[in-house]
Amino acid sequence: MTRNDKDTITRRTENRHLLRCMKAGLMAARDTPHKGLLLTAYLAGAVLVWLFRGHLFGLDAYGMFSPVLNAVIDLLVPLYAVGGLLAVLVLLGTPWGGREAKEGLQKVGLVNHAGEAPILLCKQRDKDTPRLTLWEFDPCGIPLGEWEDKRARIETALNITIAKMTWAEGRKIICVYAVPAESDFPALLPWKDKYLSPDSFVLVLGESLTGPVTVNLANIPHILLGGSTGSGKSVLLKLLLMQAVEKGAEVYIADFKGGVDFPRVWRQKCHMCFREDELLHTLDQLTAVLECRKKRLEETECKDLDTYNEATGEGLPRLVFACDEVAEMLDKTGADNERKKLLAQIENKLSTIARQGRAFGIHLILATQRPDATIIPGQIRNNMDFRVCGRADSVLSQIILDNTSAAEQIPKDARGRFITGDGTVFQGYLFNEEQL
Ligand SMILES: Nc1ncnc2c1ncn2[C@@H]1O[C@H](COP(=O)(O)OP(=O)(O)O)[C@@H](O)[C@H]1O
Ligand SMILES: [Mg+2]
Repeated sequence: MTRNDKDTITRRTENRHLLRCMKAGLMAARDTPHKGLLLTAYLAGAVLVWLFRGHLFGLDAYGMFSPVLNAVIDLLVPLYAVGGLLAVLVLLGTPWGGREAKEGLQKVGLVNHAGEAPILLCKQRDKDTPRLTLWEFDPCGIPLGEWEDKRARIETALNITIAKMTWAEGRKIICVYAVPAESDFPALLPWKDKYLSPDSFVLVLGESLTGPVTVNLANIPHILLGGSTGSGKSVLLKLLLMQAVEKGAEVYIADFKGGVDFPRVWRQKCHMCFREDELLHTLDQLTAVLECRKKRLEETECKDLDTYNEATGEGLPRLVFACDEVAEMLDKTGADNERKKLLAQIENKLSTIARQGRAFGIHLILATQRPDATIIPGQIRNNMDFRVCGRADSVLSQIILDNTSAAEQIPKDARGRFITGDGTVFQGYLFNEEQL
């Protein structure tokens, strides 16, 4: 592309932008009272100038020239008035900080092949979440993927922390939802009982920049938590289990670390298993319940547990099976034949629950550092649709979420900070057993 071509493109973009600003100005004058007032004041001023043009321009003093001057001024005043009107409209339609934003983005290299940076069209408080500011950009041909790749640079350029970026109006506008850079995530968010969701069967995980992050087990039945050691998996797992208990679910916990992670309060409220034979027995029970519920739902022609409970008034509870550090449980390295057989049976049962659990209200919540195929077989993994990843390197992030966003968006020193499969970063509530 030659310099000339680039200049032509830039000029056309600017003209288009000017037109758009006028249109936006007109809308703003209609919708925002103070802008409307400004436009009215301008129009009133223009009319006054027109009415008193004789006095204002001192025409009487020029005697015989006055007819010619009169005609010239009669022509010029409306021209200036219209020019001024357009300028006022552009002014009203131009967002604050538009030029700084454009220059900032240009500096960090968010430009198209003609060297143009995106144009800020509008900047306003988000209607649903007043904490957030919504920046609307004309992307100037730069795809959303490139925005995502340059997320950190955009944050620096605009001095914001981005919560999310989406397309709007087809692919015409890119919306950037953000908070000011200094209002980042809090390092600590203590759990409070009032956060418990009243909806069945919604569990709350923490807070993102856009509000609480929740998962509804009735829709997304199984949860996989990953992340490196110390990222906060165990705390998050317990937070979820505590809520499940409070909401009346029966919780089964497999713990092969000698029970240090689950002190006595848990043993009073949940079914614990500490050995592999106990675990197999528990899973046998769960699959048996699954088969039994399947029959009863078939007989009553109900499509899932909630419908069944409503139709029969029975109130069958949801069952949640949880395991922290699944790798300890399912690791096959160095196992003899007998143990391998046992593990195969365990995997088999887990896979049945993973595939069929949703309708019958039986759920898995598994946490592990590295949920790769050697630890959690594909049959189980593929059915765990709600994935959450804490601090991780790009390989680990790829294993858990199928993308590298955890490595990019979670600071190395963050604890209890997670990202979901759909890219929502949140700070998990810090939950303490003593609250049980
Ligand atoms: N949501 C949180 N907010 C603040 N600190 C947390 C949070 N979750 C965990 N932590 C801190 O991180 C430490 C490690 O958490 P833990 O859940 O044991 O990590 P993991 O199980 O991933 O190894 C905890 O002792 C706690 O101090
Ligand atoms: Mg742990």
